[in-house]
Amino acid sequence: MRHNEMVYVTPLPVRIWHWLNAFGIVTLCITGLQIRFPDYITVFGAYKAAIRLHNTAGTVVSVSYTLWIFYYLFVARSLIKLYVPTLDDLKTGIFRQAYFYFLTYFLGKPNPHHTTPDSKFNPMQKAAYLVIMLVLLPLVIVSGILLMYVAPLRELFMLLGGIKILVGSHFLLACCFTAFLFVHIYLATLGHTPLAHFKPMWNGWEEEEVIDDEGTETTVASASDTKPAGKDVI
Ligand code: HEM
Repeated sequence: MRHNEMVYVTPLPVRIWHWLNAFGIVTLCITGLQIRFPDYITVFGAYKAAIRLHNTAGTVVSVSYTLWIFYYLFVARSLIKLYVPTLDDLKTGIFRQAYFYFLTYFLGKPNPHHTTPDSKFNPMQKAAYLVIMLVLLPLVIVSGILLMYVAPLRELFMLLGGIKILVGSHFLLACCFTAFLFVHIYLATLGHTPLAHFKPMWNGWEEEEVIDDEGTETTVASASDTKPAGKDVI
């Protein structure tokens, strides 16, 4: 038998970080395009205005990233548990999840991953978020900060192979983020309803579909983290 249960998975600090970060990254992508192709894109008017906005959005993303990592490492202390894939995830979980996204989702089969506060990401999400949050985002932030101080750091750039290498790497990283954004938003719509994964990023609660075996209760999380579906959430 199937029924729905509400699970509290996304605490307020993570939600605030996420939307600040998303807004910042989208602004960075658009202003970055204008800076890279000023003859074709003039969304933000003058070239200098685009640079100013790009630097401001970069600062917002850098500060919010620092708060995000501080929160997960020292407050929630769940970075490793939530974001690092297990050996099982790498051996079989990622393939099971990919099979679901590419085929069984379209046949109406249930998601093989069940969300709980201790395991809120499926193996594909873990792998993708780990690379994005612990490799690509720090790299784009560091390369962006270096590019804000071209003149005083000229000697260092020469040592690293010249400014073109840095500009090229920053641009390639930005392309990865743009590609990630499209895939991220598309996959986020593949919940049991198109908005099922968006709601917890708004109010913290995810509606999880639970399938019981012949009347056996399936627990998705501890009692304090769950409540019956359909109740209003503040
Ligand atoms: C307009 C842009 C964006 C939208 C609409 C969006 C949407 C969502 C949604 C619906 C979720 C919850 C479902 C899930 O976990 O997959 C989510 C989670 C997440 N997103 Fe995004 N996202 C956006 C931009 C970004 C960007 C730019 C990044 C990183 C650079 C990002 C990183 C994450 C991470 C790490 C989570 C998991 C957060 C947690 O619960 O710890 N998102 N996003």
